[in-house]
Amino acid sequence: MVYFTIDKVYYYIFGGNALEKLLITGKTPLKGEVTISGAKNAAVAILPATLLINGICTIENLPNISDVKISCKILEELGAKITWNSKNEITIDTRNVCCTNAPLDMTSKFRASYYLLGALLGRCKNAQVGMPGGCNLGARPIDQHIKGFEALGANVEVGQGKITASVKKLVGNSVYMDVVSVGATINVMLASVLAEGTTTIDNAAKEPHIVDVANFLNTMGADIRGAGTDMIKINGVKELKGNATYSVVPDQIEAGTFMLAAVASRGDIKIKNCITKHLEPITAKVIEMGGNVEEIGGDTLRVWCNKRPSKANIKTLPYPGFPTDLQPQIGVCLSIADGNSTINESIWESRFQYTEELNKMGAKITAQGKSAFFEGVKKLYGSPVCATDLRAGAALIIAGIIADGQTKISNLQYIDRGYENIEEKFRNLGAKIERINEEE
Ligand code: EPZ
Repeated sequence: MVYFTIDKVYYYIFGGNALEKLLITGKTPLKGEVTISGAKNAAVAILPATLLINGICTIENLPNISDVKISCKILEELGAKITWNSKNEITIDTRNVCCTNAPLDMTSKFRASYYLLGALLGRCKNAQVGMPGGCNLGARPIDQHIKGFEALGANVEVGQGKITASVKKLVGNSVYMDVVSVGATINVMLASVLAEGTTTIDNAAKEPHIVDVANFLNTMGADIRGAGTDMIKINGVKELKGNATYSVVPDQIEAGTFMLAAVASRGDIKIKNCITKHLEPITAKVIEMGGNVEEIGGDTLRVWCNKRPSKANIKTLPYPGFPTDLQPQIGVCLSIADGNSTINESIWESRFQYTEELNKMGAKITAQGKSAFFEGVKKLYGSPVCATDLRAGAALIIAGIIADGQTKISNLQYIDRGYENIEEKFRNLGAKIERINEEE
């Protein structure tokens, strides 16, 4: 096989190959149980955060996805020693972290590489990281990250496709976020953990994965308070010793993906190992669309729907609003809903590419800027479609499962970045789905 673009080489290195497709034959109601993996957006921040530890720690419940694998490869390039205890657990020794220049060809392959800046700045007082990559959702500025680093005394330069940060001594300060930003909130938290004095982050993002990163750091010896609120206080400490084990929080977005799949397919799914509190915004919308949600014990939700979804209007917002990372998935429910619906995407400039793919399957969606209008149709029809980003890929899987006929999904590298064993999980719920290699 000869590849022509770096993307395909990256995909080949870190998971499968670019000729792989998902073949789905609809339509089938999804019924049964699924167990949710650890949260991608927590794991990709906790892994760089280990650079702040002058010691050894063990991380459990890591999702077995390509963003985690590449994060671990980068940490090893920087001098960390990683032992894989299982596909979902590592023990990492960061006592000998020596290099502060993250490999540019790898860091530009996903978004979360920017956390290396905060972690290396915090530990080594300097860092050089390639401009972050990630899903094409429109402009993805990092001005708030830089504002935070500069508030702590760092000098930050952006140019030649990389970001360089350095500082003699990090001194705690007050940082007001002009925009509610998950990445900037976590990055400033990372950079301030070992700073002298106290840092406050005002107008902080409150996502569950931010709380998980703070809990991880506190387990390793940090002193962070208020994570999950819009005001986070970090009292700088001398050192993080580690010598502890931490389990990554269950993935709110994966759980929400299966909740919405149950509604779209008129199925009945028990979603295990989830934190029901994190799913309240999705539960509200599932019920509004005519679905049913039952909490079973502390960590399982049963979601079922016996009818065509009702129309609904969605506005994506920072947590605890409706998550932008579930916008394409609920878009599938609205595409077949009884009536007309709208989605207003307030976070990203361009997160409606998936609607063109759904229209190939018979949907009637008009997307304009940050809004999309859905004229509910009775059914979708199988078609070859292309994943345009990670969550769009998951949405197209749901669409293929509820469509009449066969759907073939390409660009699986997006899906494999964020979902562990996704076809196996859907197959165990009754979906007719298999991964094929086009060459075959
Ligand atoms: C994180 O991206 C997630 N990625 C995204 O999930 C998610 O969509 C997003 O948060 C919002 O929840 C990871 O955690 C790896 P932001 P991030 O900084 O941190 C603007 C997925 O599917 N902004 O919260 O990059 C920005 O343009 C991915 O798992 C600035 O203006 O998002 C956006 O409009 C896709 N300046 C808004 O803030 C900055 O310095 C929110 O962005 C930073 C952000």
